[in-house]
Amino acid sequence: MTATHRLRLGVNIDHVATLRNARGSAYPDPLRAALLAEAAGADGITAHLREDRRHIRDADVAALMAGLSRPLNFEMAATPEMQDIALAHRPHAVCLVPERREERTTEGGLDVAGDEVRLTAFIAPLRAAGIRVSLFIGHAPAQIAAAARSGAAVVELHTGAYCDLHAEGRFVERDAELVALRQGAELAFGQGLEVHAGHGLNFETVGPVAAIPQLRELNIGHFLIGEAVFIGLGPAIAEMRRRMDEARA
Ligand code: PXP
Repeated sequence: MTATHRLRLGVNIDHVATLRNARGSAYPDPLRAALLAEAAGADGITAHLREDRRHIRDADVAALMAGLSRPLNFEMAATPEMQDIALAHRPHAVCLVPERREERTTEGGLDVAGDEVRLTAFIAPLRAAGIRVSLFIGHAPAQIAAAARSGAAVVELHTGAYCDLHAEGRFVERDAELVALRQGAELAFGQGLEVHAGHGLNFETVGPVAAIPQLRELNIGHFLIGEAVFIGLGPAIAEMRRRMDEARA
């Protein structure tokens, strides 16, 4: 396959909620940011309802479901509580992520290979409800093979290590990580999975990832919300879109 498919951009608005929660007020409103992101060219909106509700909250999920015109990609841990919430709202997509209370952000991929039986059973009712299920994983072949067997339609490859290595100036290791991501995307695509990627991407790191031909979607949040402080959310999204398109051309 060549890079003929347009790469979708999902904008994660979690950190608009982080800012709101810092003051315990109603401002800034994540839905308003999501609507602005849609107007600026986001193909979808991503939000992660964590067990501790540190960024978006239950009422935000309802507001996003009611207010968005583009698909909601609902990130959540594979717990019974979150499954009930997903089944109540029926978002376009659910992305299952590992979650540990003490982590600052989603630090690694899901261990699908080590938890395959439980995850396969967990995915079945979501699929039956018409929700597209994605698994946030690393590029290890065993994880990809287990994801392909699990009933998930999509895998999202974790780009956090690639971005960290870039930020630390460890370019040889960064380039090796990029090769591994590329091979992972090829393998997952070959097994019939739609392939997404995300975590930690910014203007510097997005190009080489966007150039991976099998990818259909990138999910980007923290950098865009941070950059919005300096240039505005609309221009930050437009510039990310431009860099994705340039890498893909
Ligand atoms: N994809 C997944 C599955 C995530 O958990 C996150 C972080 O919530 C992202 C993408 C976006 O990462 P970032 O906020 O670092 O751009």
